[in-house]
Amino acid sequence: MPGEPTSDEVYARIAPTYATRRTTDPQIAARIWAALGDARTILNVGAGTGSYEPTDRDVTAVEPSAAMREARPPGAAPCIEASADDLPFADGTFDAAMAVLSDHHWPDPVAGYRELARVARRVVVFQWDNHLGPHPFWLIRDYLPEFRALAAGKPSLQERAASIDATITPVPIPSDCADAFFPAFWGRPEAYLDPAVRASTSVWARLGPDVEARVTAQLARDLADGTWHRRNAALLTAPEADIGARLMVRSTA
Ligand SMILES: C[S@@+](CC[C@H](N)C(=O)[O-])C[C@H]1O[C@@H](n2cnc3c(N)ncnc32)[C@H](O)[C@@H]1O
Repeated sequence: MPGEPTSDEVYARIAPTYATRRTTDPQIAARIWAALGDARTILNVGAGTGSYEPTDRDVTAVEPSAAMREARPPGAAPCIEASADDLPFADGTFDAAMAVLSDHHWPDPVAGYRELARVARRVVVFQWDNHLGPHPFWLIRDYLPEFRALAAGKPSLQERAASIDATITPVPIPSDCADAFFPAFWGRPEAYLDPAVRASTSVWARLGPDVEARVTAQLARDLADGTWHRRNAALLTAPEADIGARLMVRSTA
């Protein structure tokens, strides 16, 4: 989008609070770790502060943002500065490569997927599908026509997966998801009125302050007058939902 800040600028802003808000959700982690199989050496690309890095394996992290590298907790896996589309490792260095909620920032996602597949025998990517339309997540479907522009020009999730022959499976997101990624509060709509919740994801920074102000004002009105509940009441008691989250797995073993 015009005037959109770079990923580096966004994460310089988000990094100081990232590790406390974007914590590892156990249900998502179980799916990622099961998909890693018996891999012992793992590369985590776009690693951020280390969410979802298994602690019982030999992990190497890659993260281009200096602020995010600095925000990694003490004892986290070693972290190298690099970009997904140009990984400084020889072919087949790792048993598995993983990327969690990162590839929407990569300059060339398909080149990034191919790099993961080059340096590792198994690839596991967790992401949510931002090309779906009408999107299953009400905030995008009912409030954010601008969202389509964020995904415009990028390969779809299916195209990214197909570039490395990966399978795609849905990952239901629990109603109490511990990781504050953008659609995680699908069943807790008031959370989107909290500036601290919005500040923990890159989407709002990329949409800009005018869109953020309009959407939060409209959502506040719809929650107060019952409009949101008339449309979405069933979500308030659902234990989990498919809001487009997907696991992509490629295995050559
Ligand atoms: C939403 S965070 C996800 C961090 C972590 N994987 C997690 O699940 O909490 C996205 C990360 O992708 C990183 N990133 C941005 N551009 C990248 C690139 N070209 N290659 C690899 N990572 C990138 C960002 O700096 C950021 O740390």
